[in-house]
Amino acid sequence: MLRVTPLAKDFCAEIGGVDFNAPLNRSVVIDLRDALDTYSVLVIRDQPMDDDQQVVFSKYFGRPEVGKGANPAAGSPFSRQSNLDIKTGEIIQANDRRMLYQKGNMLWHMDSSFKVHSSLCSILTAREVPPEGGNTEFASTRFAYESLSKLQRTAIAELEVEHDIRRSRELTGYIYEPETAKNFIVARHKLVRTNPSTGRKSLLIGVHACGIVGWSNEKSRELLNDLLARAEQSVFSHQWRNNDIVIWDNQAVVHRATPYDASRYRRLMQRTTISLDGIWPSLS
Ligand code: OGA
Ligand code: MN
Repeated sequence: MLRVTPLAKDFCAEIGGVDFNAPLNRSVVIDLRDALDTYSVLVIRDQPMDDDQQVVFSKYFGRPEVGKGANPAAGSPFSRQSNLDIKTGEIIQANDRRMLYQKGNMLWHMDSSFKVHSSLCSILTAREVPPEGGNTEFASTRFAYESLSKLQRTAIAELEVEHDIRRSRELTGYIYEPETAKNFIVARHKLVRTNPSTGRKSLLIGVHACGIVGWSNEKSRELLNDLLARAEQSVFSHQWRNNDIVIWDNQAVVHRATPYDASRYRRLMQRTTISLDGIWPSLS
C-alpha cells in the first residue's frame, strides 16, 4: 500500500511503501496520482532507478516528452541536469556553454510551459548528487492563487499568458544557435488552471511567462511579478540524496535549481517530463 507522509500542510509529501520498479497495480497508481494532485510535490527516497526503469515508471503518469532543445539528452525521453559530459563522464568546465545553459534552471520556472502542450508533471531521479548544495526548491502557485482576493481572482480569470523559453535563457546570457532557436514558439496558455480532479486552481507563471495577451509589457510584468512573489511565500527546499525521486506538478508549482560547487562535485539528475497532451493512460 502506498504510504503518504505530508511534509507541509497540503504541500509536498514523502511517498513510500512500494517498490516503484515493480509493476504497479491500479490502486497504487490511483493513490499516487491523487497524492500528486493534493500535494503537488512527491518525494520518494532510496529508490534506485535506471533509464529504462524511469521510462516505465513515467508512463504511469502519461506520455513522456522527447526533447528537441539544447539539452544534451535532446532526442531522448530525458532532460539531463548535470555538470558531467554526456560522452566522457568528466566534469565540464565552468565557462562552457552547457553550464551557462543550465543557469536558466536557477530561475523559478515550470518545465515545458513554453510548449503548445504544457506539462502535467516532471519526474527527476538523482543518480549522483554533490555532498552539499544543489537543492531544488519548489513554490506553490496553487497557494499563490488562493492568496488572491475574490476581486483579484475575477480580474485574472480569463487572462491568457505567453511563455517563451528564449526569455529565460536570454536573462542568463545564453543565446541559442539559430538551428535550435527555430524549434521554439511563443505558447499561449490560460493563466489560471483548474485541476480536473480536485477543482483547485493554480497559476501558470515562472520565468518563461513573458506577457499577458493584450497587455503592455510593463503591466504584464507587474502582475506576473506579484503572482510569483505570492508563490514564493511557500518554498519547500529538497535536499537530494542518491536514489531520490521527486515528482512535481508542472501546473501547480514553480521550481528552481540552487548552486553547488560544480568544479569540485559531480551531479547527475535525469528528468522525464510528462506532457499534458493526451489523457492519462487508462489502467487495466
Ligand atoms: C529540472 C530542474 C533543477 C535541479 O530538472 O527541470 O529544473 O535542481 N532541475 O536540477
Ligand atoms: Mn526544471
